[in-house]
Amino acid sequence: MRLETTTRGFTGSLAYRERARQVLARGVSSSPRASQLPVAIVQASASGCRVTDVDGNEYLDYALGYGPLLLGHSPRPVIDAVRAELERGLRTGGVTSGEAELAERVAACLPSAEVTTFLSSGTEAVQLALRIARSHTGRHRVVKFRGHYHGWSDGMHVSNAPGSDALTTDGQDPLAVRNVISLDWGDLDGLHAVLDDTVAAVITEAAAVNAGCFEPDPGFLEGLREATERHGSLLVFDEVITGFRLGLAGAQGRYGVTPDLTVLGKVLGGGLPISAVTGSARAMEPVSSGRVLHRGTYNGNPVSVAAGNACLRYLSERADELYPDMERRGERLTDGIREAAARASAPLAVNRVGTCLQFFVSDRPLERLSDLVGLDKDATLAFSELLVERGVMTLPRGLMYLSVEHTDADIDTTIGAFESALGAFAG
Ligand SMILES: Cc1ncc(COP(=O)(O)O)c(C=O)c1O
Repeated sequence: MRLETTTRGFTGSLAYRERARQVLARGVSSSPRASQLPVAIVQASASGCRVTDVDGNEYLDYALGYGPLLLGHSPRPVIDAVRAELERGLRTGGVTSGEAELAERVAACLPSAEVTTFLSSGTEAVQLALRIARSHTGRHRVVKFRGHYHGWSDGMHVSNAPGSDALTTDGQDPLAVRNVISLDWGDLDGLHAVLDDTVAAVITEAAAVNAGCFEPDPGFLEGLREATERHGSLLVFDEVITGFRLGLAGAQGRYGVTPDLTVLGKVLGGGLPISAVTGSARAMEPVSSGRVLHRGTYNGNPVSVAAGNACLRYLSERADELYPDMERRGERLTDGIREAAARASAPLAVNRVGTCLQFFVSDRPLERLSDLVGLDKDATLAFSELLVERGVMTLPRGLMYLSVEHTDADIDTTIGAFESALGAFAG
């Protein structure tokens, strides 16, 4: 299916792309940004849940920086804290007192957290979590699930697509994944068949947001917990997206299953780069004792730490009101899009986990992650272009995040944009 679109109104972004591509590889600094249609939109400014581009177009933003901006683009407490911190000098690479405060806040929020260590990106934090698990158990193999994304390191950037065990990029060292076992998400029998005394860790997104917003099957996370405990492997929840987004206690709070190690990123920094590995004092012992090396010039930098403290303070003080409100708006948006699609008899499916939504252009139901095998991703990408033209920015692959800034009126406007875009199916 080819949906008719236009590049009218994007001349500034197009001109930037031509200039940038001369000197900046592919014109972007992270590959997925290049996939946005009709062109990677060049953002001039942003406030709350709105972005304005260099052509003066305004968008309701559901990409939210690929997830971190739960408080929107201009959260006063975070911006004030960052400004105040900058006035004290950058102090990059030094020890600053905000780090322990942030670790205390993480421990107060997450059931699994006693001891925390900070890094800058989710990719690095996954790498550290697996290193801790290998040191803790003296084992090397790691189980991951197809369609789950755990960053772009050579050792984990594999079986990212449902139904595939392929490496993800040219240039990747195939030997780096030789100790990775890939299973279908939800397959406890498969897990029981491979778990033995060579498996250091089982890593999972506790809700499969990257694959398309699927909740875990009832009992699945409990099954992972029980099986890993029985075999002496560590259970690692990658909560880079879900941490502080699905509630203050993240996915582990939502589903009531406590992992040994948790990987955090995105919302943790309120929009600034910071990530973490946290866990019980016992699980974190390899780092606490110094057996596992943990390095990084920018780890725990005071500006990101100040942003993180401000973000978690804000969320902690208002959690009872903010999370249910956002969840309710997420539900309204999902229902509104589904109803619009039904009215238009259009092949658009929507999944939701809390404040994460995913739309797919699909004429068959997509109830489980495995239903995605063979789905035409280009049709969803083309639909996201129709939304961009109607002032709604999503991730190009159809993932949408809500923030505390989206109001009921914004949700209505967004449903209207979907309704209009769905008209493209009529012809
Ligand atoms: C679940 C998950 N883990 C890890 C990562 C990697 O995080 P980063 O992009 O900060 O390296 C991501 C990024 O989207 C993610 O969604």
